[in-house]
Amino acid sequence: MNCFLLNSSLGKKLVMSITGCALVLFLLFHMAMNLVALVSADAYNMVCAFLGANWYAVVATVGLAALVVLHFVFAFILTVNNYKARGSQRYAVTVNEPGVEWASKNMLVLGIIVILGLGLHLVHFWSKMMLVELMGSEITQIGEEVVHATDGAAIIAFTFSKWYNVVLYIIWLAALWFHLNHGVWSMFQTAGFANDKWYPRLKCASKLVSTLIVLGFAAVVITFFVCSICGCCADACCSEAAQACTEACCAGHAH
Ligand code: HEM
Repeated sequence: MNCFLLNSSLGKKLVMSITGCALVLFLLFHMAMNLVALVSADAYNMVCAFLGANWYAVVATVGLAALVVLHFVFAFILTVNNYKARGSQRYAVTVNEPGVEWASKNMLVLGIIVILGLGLHLVHFWSKMMLVELMGSEITQIGEEVVHATDGAAIIAFTFSKWYNVVLYIIWLAALWFHLNHGVWSMFQTAGFANDKWYPRLKCASKLVSTLIVLGFAAVVITFFVCSICGCCADACCSEAAQACTEACCAGHAH
């Protein structure tokens, strides 16, 4: 089994599919969890406290990190093998094969952008929440303020009150959309589903899943940004966290 997974190209693709599938499930869960912040800051912070530095959350984090590493390492090995297998022919290809999408040819580059964005994201959130708690503290610094390490809603409001973070997250989410769009389809293909009948359906399902995930995340980024600059929206549509952020801005506090 080990040999098959490590030595054959199909085995490596299978590892990519299984780890990719688990990561997509995580993203669906994470996106749904973040949408709670749009409704209630208290409810969101309760979820954050539940997923804080508790043993089960730490085990899940380690498992998640292992999935990301496996997914990336196997992607890298497959890309290098494909590159070697094409040999000198790679320079002769000047016309795009019909049906071969841009994303499918740039999955490694897109994946690297996703990982770089993830690094920044972990600095923004994980290092101010779970890591702080693991280090034995209950409070965390955001800008000039000090909040509880489980106050995810305040950290979201602070992070997305900065326009440059909003721009970086939108670029990150765009790369994630392209990566997921091809990745989800490719996962089904490896599982043997991509025959003539299923091809268009699976392409459509991949677009739906990637769009749902990315729009869910983007909704949080954009709503909190709009609420941080526009006082009148805060009362109408934002959670207490965003309202608190807006009130702080209106009161002239530095953010
Ligand atoms: C853009 C909206 C997003 C928001 C508001 C958000 C929010 C958060 C928060 C609050 C945490 C810390 C949880 C804790 O330590 O208790 C977190 C962790 C994390 N986020 Fe996000 N996130 C977003 C997007 C994403 C995306 C797009 C990805 C992946 C591509 C992602 C991957 C992760 C990972 C891997 C962790 C660490 C999870 C763990 O500790 O087990 N997040 N995020």
